Amino acid sequence: MKILVTGGAGYIGSTVAHELVKTGDEVVVFDNLSQGHRCAVPEQAVFIKGDLADRELVDSIMRAHRPEAIMHFASNTLVGESIAKPFLYIGDNVTNGLNLLKSAVEYGVRRFILSSTANLFDKPLKIPITADERIIPGSPYGESKHILERFLYWMDRSFDLRYAALRYFNAAGAAGPHLGEQHDPETHLIPLVLQVALGQREKITIFGDDYETPDGTCVRDYIHVLDLAQAHILALRALGSSSRVYNLGNGQGFSVKEVVETARQVTGHPIPAEIGPRRPGDPAVLIADSERIRADLGWQPSYPNVRGIIETAWQWHSENPAGFKE
Ligand SMILES: NC(=O)c1ccc[n+]([C@@H]2O[C@H](COP(=O)([O-])OP(=O)(O)OC[C@H]3O[C@@H](n4cnc5c(N)ncnc54)[C@H](O)[C@@H]3O)[C@@H](O)[C@H]2O)c1
Repeated sequence: MKILVTGGAGYIGSTVAHELVKTGDEVVVFDNLSQGHRCAVPEQAVFIKGDLADRELVDSIMRAHRPEAIMHFASNTLVGESIAKPFLYIGDNVTNGLNLLKSAVEYGVRRFILSSTANLFDKPLKIPITADERIIPGSPYGESKHILERFLYWMDRSFDLRYAALRYFNAAGAAGPHLGEQHDPETHLIPLVLQVALGQREKITIFGDDYETPDGTCVRDYIHVLDLAQAHILALRALGSSSRVYNLGNGQGFSVKEVVETARQVTGHPIPAEIGPRRPGDPAVLIADSERIRADLGWQPSYPNVRGIIETAWQWHSENPAGFKE
């Protein structure tokens, strides 16, 4: 299949692009490199540098490459920033997504996969969180994904565009020693902790230890980036029949303190930690119920616990302390 991967130079998009190339798919990566890295894109893929805000460019890519499917990773992704800059999120994320969708419909694309998020569930009624949980976005970032999910629902009804909305919980780990996570600024716990082990950061700050959790720190569900990639590939193949919405996590929670302690064991570094104030908008516990994708598509994570995930992340970070070359 020929697949357009927006944001395919970023952390998750590049990993999925590599896995698609391995399965024999033709991949066209479109990325503005605001966060992405040129050398994270697989050599076998066509790479086009550009911004989704440029509707003419998006149309010209559709015309030239005629993708059969789109995987849409490109996005502003920072929850905290989105509270300070809602226009950038509810504005740009949505407008860019709509540019892509308009073009997709015009050029006859019938399969679309959206990177959605656990940030749809600010006040879950039940943990683990099923795909049917009520949606209360935790930020303008989460709201932008919710709007795009709703838009996709109508694209399906109006234009027979089949979609999968994949709501990732905390993506983590690395696909190998040459492909991993590198954001600037970095806000994700595991790379931040590993930066301390590399001597690039003095200590890690734990935001709050007075939550209603066993050790008082927030509990999250970490999912390996390769397990996410498998979910994308399974969903893409299944989209011939009907649209789908899936929550994607391991179904197990690990506290911030547990992650820091595991990273100490994996790296052999003491990783000093201090307790800071809570961050606004951090729910105490987010754990996914991924039963639906397991039952429908036979998806099965290969990295069910956080130690295996941190080991792969450490391999990437310790072999590439300065990150990607470009
Ligand atoms: N990392 C996580 O834990 C996580 C969790 C839930 C959802 N998500 C979603 O998954 C997707 C990928 O996340 P990631 O961690 O790989 O992020 P990332 O920042 O590494 O990747 C996003 C890529 O999109 C590109 N991009 C951004 N805006 C663009 C634009 N206007 N035009 C063209 N390219 C643009 C960036 O340069 C970057 O390469 C995002 O949509 C994110 O919201 C991520």
